Amino acid sequence: MFKEIWKKRAELVEKNLLVELKKNPALEEKLSNAMEYSLMAGGKRLRPILLMASADAVNGTGENFLTVATSIEMIHTYSLIHDDLPAMDNDDYRRGKLTNHKVFGEATAILAGDALLTLAFEVMTRQENVEPKILLQVVKEMSTAAGESGMVGGQSIDIESEGKKIDMATLKKMHVGKTGALFKAAIRSGAILAGANSEQLDALTIYAEKFGLAFQITDDILDVVGDEKILGKPIGSDAQNNKSTYVTLTSLETAKNLAQQAVDDAVDALKIFGAEADFLRELVKNLIGRNK
Ligand code: IPE
Ligand code: IPE
Ligand code: MG
Ligand code: MG
Ligand code: MG
Repeated sequence: MFKEIWKKRAELVEKNLLVELKKNPALEEKLSNAMEYSLMAGGKRLRPILLMASADAVNGTGENFLTVATSIEMIHTYSLIHDDLPAMDNDDYRRGKLTNHKVFGEATAILAGDALLTLAFEVMTRQENVEPKILLQVVKEMSTAAGESGMVGGQSIDIESEGKKIDMATLKKMHVGKTGALFKAAIRSGAILAGANSEQLDALTIYAEKFGLAFQITDDILDVVGDEKILGKPIGSDAQNNKSTYVTLTSLETAKNLAQQAVDDAVDALKIFGAEADFLRELVKNLIGRNK
């Protein structure tokens, strides 16, 4: 059941990514091919799925917000294209395929990322059946999360920390930014779109924070013990770039325990919800055993 819903929703998102992408006329073919290449390369589609699941937990309206859900996958995909660039993590594989810059060259990869980020905000404005005031709130959530005080800020800490021994507080700040912020924006946006009350929004926000933490700790673990073929991206990238991660700052064992704790806390945060939040519960529990 859980896996089936995930699959169905991921397919909805994939179809819509292409629909939204093709709505604008392409000025330059190589650029639009590069955008489509990374968007359609697969991926778990976690952030859009979380956005819809959050709206479902509030009042079962998840699929009404497919347009905004699609837009956050565009922001995420842009962040991956830039994350893989030689000046950043310098990785050759992503989602089981060559990274964007390996296929299209660095300049086009940078531009494809830029264009996906801006397209995301245009796509958000295409969401129907939402009051403009609510949509503006979502735009604020998304832009803050994607920018300096969110994902990009976290990426900057990551880059500035390469080769240094950072402390736990800095590591946390980095994770909250580079990974946590977009998850939080996805979950909060779904709740806001569905008209969540403040108690529901607060509970989902805590869930989101714990989800992001469990997710990135597991990402750090998989960089050490994962299977490259299943994961679709290189193993050992963090060590090669002298990154500080949960594994290097603690140990594999402690990192696993911390991830489990975050999962338990996330589930606990949902206690005000009934069965309508079961999918969110399953989703976070699934993070621990994931292999991709
Ligand atoms: C990878 O995110 C980047 C991080 C934030 C650690 P995902 O693991 O969600 O990547 P895809 O979308 O499934 O490829
Ligand atoms: C990057 O974290 C998170 C992003 C904002 C893209 P990582 O550098 O650990 O992500 P992966 O492991 O390459 O997917
Ligand atoms: Mg990185
Ligand atoms: Mg990386
Ligand atoms: Mg990683």
